[in-house]
Amino acid sequence: MAKEYNLKRADFIFRNENDWENILSRTLDKDSRELINELISSELKGRGGAGFPTGLKWKLTSEAEVAQKYVICNADEGEPGTFKDREILMKVPFKVLTAMAICGYITGATKGFIYLRGEYKFLQPDLQKVIDEFAYYCKEIGFDFSIEIFMGSGAYICGEETALMESMEGFRGEPRNKPPFPTNKGYMGMPTVINNVETLAHTYTIFKHGAKKFYDLGVQFSRGTKLFSVSGDTPKPGIYELELGMSLSDFVDEFGDGDTKAVQVGGASGFLVPRKRFGETSIGYKGKLTGISLPTGGSMMLFNSTRSMFNVLDNYLEFFREESCGQCTPCRVGCQQLHMGIKAVKQGQKPAVYLDKLLKLTETMQYTAKCGLGQSVANSFSSIVENFREEMIY
Ligand SMILES: Cc1cc2nc3c(=O)[nH]c(=O)nc-3n(C[C@H](O)[C@H](O)[C@H](O)COP(=O)(O)O)c2cc1C
Ligand code: SF4
Repeated sequence: MAKEYNLKRADFIFRNENDWENILSRTLDKDSRELINELISSELKGRGGAGFPTGLKWKLTSEAEVAQKYVICNADEGEPGTFKDREILMKVPFKVLTAMAICGYITGATKGFIYLRGEYKFLQPDLQKVIDEFAYYCKEIGFDFSIEIFMGSGAYICGEETALMESMEGFRGEPRNKPPFPTNKGYMGMPTVINNVETLAHTYTIFKHGAKKFYDLGVQFSRGTKLFSVSGDTPKPGIYELELGMSLSDFVDEFGDGDTKAVQVGGASGFLVPRKRFGETSIGYKGKLTGISLPTGGSMMLFNSTRSMFNVLDNYLEFFREESCGQCTPCRVGCQQLHMGIKAVKQGQKPAVYLDKLLKLTETMQYTAKCGLGQSVANSFSSIVENFREEMIY
C-alpha cells in the first residue's frame, strides 16, 4: 500500500550551526572509504535537477588514479523560478565550503571552484571573505585544499556542467558530448566532481548527523529533504525545506491561493501540472507513490485562473530561444519554430492542428538535441499545450 504523505517541513539547511571547524576536522580523521559508504547509504541524489546519486559521483572520481582532480560547486542557478542556492551561499556558506573540502579529501582533489552566477556578483565580496577565513583554518590544520570563485557571465547554458567547464577553460560556453563524463574527464580534462550548492549543503548534514537521519526522511527513491523556491500566485512566496515525496495537492493546499489552476514543477524546463492531476502527482525522483513522480531542481511556480497559459508558454519559449547556445540544429531551429508556431496559431495565421505538428517537433528535439536544454523544451511545451489547448488557439 502506498504510504500517505502530508507536507513535512524541515530545518537542516538554514540552521546556522557554528560547528563547521569541528565537523571538518572530525570528518578528516575518518577513513575516506567509510565516508563514501556513509554518503552512498544516505541515497542523496543531486539537487541541481538531474538527480544523479551523489555518493556514486564522488566514488567514481575517487577511483581515478591521477595527480590532479577538481571539485566544482555549481552556483549558476539559472533555471527560471529558482532562488534557493543564492540564499544558501548568503546564509550558510561555511556548510558549502566544508562539504567541498570533505569532497576533496574523499576524492583526492586539492582545488575547488565556486562557479557563481553572473547576476550574483553582489555576493562575491562576502563570499570571498568567508573563503579567506576558511583557507586560514585549512592551513592551520595542515589540510591542503583551496577554493576560488569563478564568475559566470549570465548565460543559462553555462549551468550545464560541461558548458560550465568549457567557459571556465576560456572557451564559448557550449556543452560537450557525453561520455566522457566529468567524473572521468572534467575541468582541464581531469576527473571532476560537480555538484549543485544545495547538494553540497545536504552532504554537510549527512556528515554531521549521519546518513540514517537523512535516509529516514522522504520516501523510497527520494530520500531526505529538498529546498523549494515557491513563486507565482501564492500568498507565501519564499524558500521552504520540505521532505521529498509530498503530493502536489498537499503542496497546493499549503501554498496555493485557493484558485490554483496549474503548477509548473522544475522551472521552464520542467512540467506543468493541471489541477485535475494534483492528487496523483508527487515530487521526487523516481519512486511512484500514487502515480506520476516529478523531479525538480526546486522551482515551483503556481498559476491561478487569471493567468493565460499561452503567455506562460510564450515566455518560456522566448527564454529557450534566447538561451539556446545554437550548437545543434534541433534546438537552435526548433526553439524558433516552436515560438513562431504558437504565435501563428494564436493569431489565427495557422490552424489549431498545427499544434500537433509542433508537438511532433518537440519529440524530435527530445531525441536529437545534444544537451538537456534542447531535450527538455518538450516538457513544458507538451504539458501546457496538451492540458490547455483551448488557451493556445485563436
Ligand atoms: C541547460 C542546463 C542548465 C543547468 N543549470 C544548472 C544550474 O544552474 N545549477 C545546477 O546545479 N545544475 C544545473 N544544471 C545541471 C548540471 O548540468 C549538473 O547536472 C549539476 O550541476 C550536477 O549537480 P548535482 O548532481 O548536485 O545536481 C543544468 C543543466 C542544464 C541542461
Ligand atoms: S541542445 Fe541547445 S543548448 Fe544544448 S548544445 Fe544543442 S543548441 Fe546548445
